[in-house]
Amino acid sequence: MSLNHFTSQIILPPAKAGEHIVLEADNISKSYQEGSGSNLNVLTGINLTIRSSEKIAIVGASGCGKSTLLHILGGLERPTSGHVLIDNQDFAVMSEAARCRMRNRNLGFIYQFHHLLPEFTALENVAMPMFIRGSSIKKATQRAQLLLEKVGMIGRTDHKPSELSGGERQRVAIARALCAEPKCILADEPTGNLDPTTAEQVVDVIFKLNRDFHTSLVVVTHDMDLANRMDSIYTIENGHLTKIK
Ligand SMILES: Nc1ncnc2c1ncn2[C@@H]1O[C@H](COP(=O)(O)OP(=O)(O)OP(=O)(O)O)[C@@H](O)[C@H]1O
Ligand SMILES: [Mg+2]
Repeated sequence: MSLNHFTSQIILPPAKAGEHIVLEADNISKSYQEGSGSNLNVLTGINLTIRSSEKIAIVGASGCGKSTLLHILGGLERPTSGHVLIDNQDFAVMSEAARCRMRNRNLGFIYQFHHLLPEFTALENVAMPMFIRGSSIKKATQRAQLLLEKVGMIGRTDHKPSELSGGERQRVAIARALCAEPKCILADEPTGNLDPTTAEQVVDVIFKLNRDFHTSLVVVTHDMDLANRMDSIYTIENGHLTKIK
């Protein structure tokens, strides 16, 4: 069974960017308090609108604030000032439980460092967002198996993260991000640890989801070939976000 088998069951109009705002950063700033008492200003006055099926790349030097911005967009970190709206609702006014629910329903994270749950197998890790959402074990397991196949990991489904290589863990984390068919994928260097062939397969899976389900993509990457395949490219410099394509 392939992803085509699933996607062919659902008839959607062709992906068209701009219809629906999935995620919005409104005047976001972030600073960290340093040991000396001074402030490290990482992000300043950032505005960004992500519409359904839109594909955005964020590039920039190491330490410029790419991961910080992605974490704030995903509600994992709070901005020092400004607001993040998900599906037109402000993260800041939600309870912790509501924020988790919104994240689970709308967002898929591919972290720079994989964050798999060590005590669970690859299959269980991938199925987890669907379990949390209340899917049946059968449905979640089938879908997890399909995604693991797509990232070339079908022979390792029963391995725990400690029994996988770095690139294999990254692929499991990617399968997990895609499992619950989020509206928007936030990916931090998704292909950073992968060989070129596997990287290409992973990018294909992400783009297919974008085409078939209108999934929006926000991808932090140092790979300009990947960045150029997106609708737009932004860079962060001195805390400011600038559109360069
Ligand atoms: N919790 C924290 N406390 C203090 N400073 C932090 C914290 N997290 C990040 N920083 C600093 O904020 C800046 C931005 O970090 P961030 O991880 O967003 O960079 P990045 O653009 O993702 O870099 P890379 O390409 O190396 O992953 C860095 O200078 C970092 O040292
Ligand atoms: Mg980073």
